[in-house]
Amino acid sequence: EKREAGINRSEIRAFTDFPSKGIVFRDICPILKDPEALAAIIDLFEERVRETCPGVELVVGLDARGFLFGPLLAQRLRVGFVLVRKKGKLPGPTASVAYTLEYGQAEAEIQEDAVEAGQKVVIIDDLLATGGTLYATCELMKKQKAKVLGCLVVIELKDLKGAGPNRTRVRVLPWSST
Ligand code: PRP
Ligand code: HPA
Repeated sequence: EKREAGINRSEIRAFTDFPSKGIVFRDICPILKDPEALAAIIDLFEERVRETCPGVELVVGLDARGFLFGPLLAQRLRVGFVLVRKKGKLPGPTASVAYTLEYGQAEAEIQEDAVEAGQKVVIIDDLLATGGTLYATCELMKKQKAKVLGCLVVIELKDLKGAGPNRTRVRVLPWSST
């Protein structure tokens, strides 16, 4: 039976002081283990993109947990999937941008030929905290002259205000939690 409103919040576990003191870490592993919950999430992503991002040509997924949801969505939409990885993981000519996240620093990298100028993309990740990662990826897309139609996340940590007007235009799904 198809679920109406996505997943149960209790399926997202929280661990205190991981990966460092003061961080409450939301763990998405139980969602992936539950095929109905995962299907419900991909259904909602698909519906949302079909409604609000017409003409999307690529799904861009973020290292590492965006890789778990991105290809499933891309297949539903019958479009390609592109990886944005942490620095040093991709072969060949790359473009990159540095950023800060809730608990550290990182650099996002893409293969130069992965997206073409003018291509319409949606970006997907598991979770929005400060928005640093998604914002950096939008900058990377700008650098490659791609057009970001929207960003998708499973969980938004609303208190951190990562989706504020100065950052990404993040399209957040109905079950987003704090
Ligand atoms: C986490 C999460 C997001 C990002 C969110 O990934 O999966 O990508 O942080 O934080 P932000 O909104 O403050 O930027 P992380 O960089 O820990 O990488 P991982 O998926 O490889 O563990
Ligand atoms: N869970 C997973 N990734 C994260 C979190 C979290 O709570 N906060 C920042 N990145």
